[in-house]
Amino acid sequence: MAAAASLPIPPGPSKRQELLIELSRVSKDYDTGGGVVHAMRDVSLNIEHGEFVAIVGTSGSGKSTMMNILGCLDRPTHGTYMLAGLDVGSRAGDSRAIVRNRVIGFIFQGFNLLPRTTALENCELPLQYRGVGGGERKRRAKAALEAVGLGDRMDHKPNQLSGGQQQRVAIARALVTDPPLLLADEPTGNLDTRTSLEVLALLQRLNRDLGITIILVTHERDIAACASRVVTMRDGRIVSDVVQDEPVDAASELANVPPPDVGGPLSHRELDDGEIKARRAKQPVPFRVFVSMLLGSKLGLAFVRALLAVAGVAVHGQFALLAVAHALALVAESWRGATVGRKRLGYPLTSDQRVRLALWYTVGTGVVGVLVVLAVTFGKMFALQSQLGAWSLVALVADRLAGRGLAVTVGALVGFHVALVLLRYLLLSMMNPRR
Ligand SMILES: Nc1ncnc2c1ncn2[C@@H]1O[C@H](COP(=O)(O)OP(=O)(O)O)[C@@H](O)[C@H]1O
Ligand SMILES: [Mg+2]
Repeated sequence: MAAAASLPIPPGPSKRQELLIELSRVSKDYDTGGGVVHAMRDVSLNIEHGEFVAIVGTSGSGKSTMMNILGCLDRPTHGTYMLAGLDVGSRAGDSRAIVRNRVIGFIFQGFNLLPRTTALENCELPLQYRGVGGGERKRRAKAALEAVGLGDRMDHKPNQLSGGQQQRVAIARALVTDPPLLLADEPTGNLDTRTSLEVLALLQRLNRDLGITIILVTHERDIAACASRVVTMRDGRIVSDVVQDEPVDAASELANVPPPDVGGPLSHRELDDGEIKARRAKQPVPFRVFVSMLLGSKLGLAFVRALLAVAGVAVHGQFALLAVAHALALVAESWRGATVGRKRLGYPLTSDQRVRLALWYTVGTGVVGVLVVLAVTFGKMFALQSQLGAWSLVALVADRLAGRGLAVTVGALVGFHVALVLLRYLLLSMMNPRR
């Protein structure tokens, strides 16, 4: 990392120094066994700091090959590639990786976001790889998300965001390291017209306001019309290179596109708050939350017992005391459930999720409780009861129910568990963090 920190990115004043990219007679051959494919043939291309270049061409014309070379992901077979004044074409893999991480932000067609990770955490990743500390990382990731207009969506995971919002997160992630160059291979390939224009408007703003150089591959003429220069490829060669003095302004073009169809597919428009709520409500409660609740309950119980022991109060066989201890354990477990749920999901448990959590947790622990009751009843024969019964509320309950008949026993157990579900739901709601 020390080497990376000292790498120069010359902004120098002379004409030559302003060249960010200089491809000289670059060729790329792929040896496919069945013959050599000439994916790039003798390509020369200069790009200055601050340009917005679109690369167009039919499928197979060599656009992605050229982007891989520009992005230092691949090396030319022949020719030289100078990036920010450094001959990267001839550098070894490690050294190219350092230049790549310093100078280039990548945006892909498929967004490439980590699915179970919030927008903020996704944006922190490139900084984490660079060893930037926690606080600084959060601050910069937040700033990048704010720059792309997602300041209010930082704790959303990709499946809670529309396609356009996901691409904006990907752009924020590419920007977070402050690279002077953004490379985007078909960044709007998965998006509808309106969302594509929104992404383009953002890229144009980054280019104009921050001076970031942008190279974008597209097969759509409408998209290319927004660039200040269009390079057309065919059969691995550049066949035209045209400067567009008045590129289409994506932001004003947006005004001419009809507003999103309200009934349209979700991925094609911004999600409103109602839809986000609906999506969140459907999300399963992570298993870890159940485990944390159980731990909370056991620790709470152990804590109360320890307190009583210190105070010299005997709990053995004391129904009322055990009941109070269990009530406090309920509070502890709900607090764990609500806070761990908030942490795992990235947002407070929705009421739907609280209902499911209370229900399944009660069913799960209830089944275990019933097994204990059976064990105790069975254990009476083996004189187990004297040990278990004194310590366990469940065993005491079993003892009280013993001999009352099946109907009463089942009725009491069912009623007790229904009450527990309600109580847990109430407690989870009371303990739930606000945001
Ligand atoms: N890794 C590879 N191995 C062999 N041939 C490849 C490889 N990558 C690309 N090609 C070939 O190189 C040519 C250019 O491909 P590509 O750069 O992906 O075009 P584009 O992105 O314009 O569609 C195509 O004929 C393609 O089949
Ligand atoms: Mg391609």
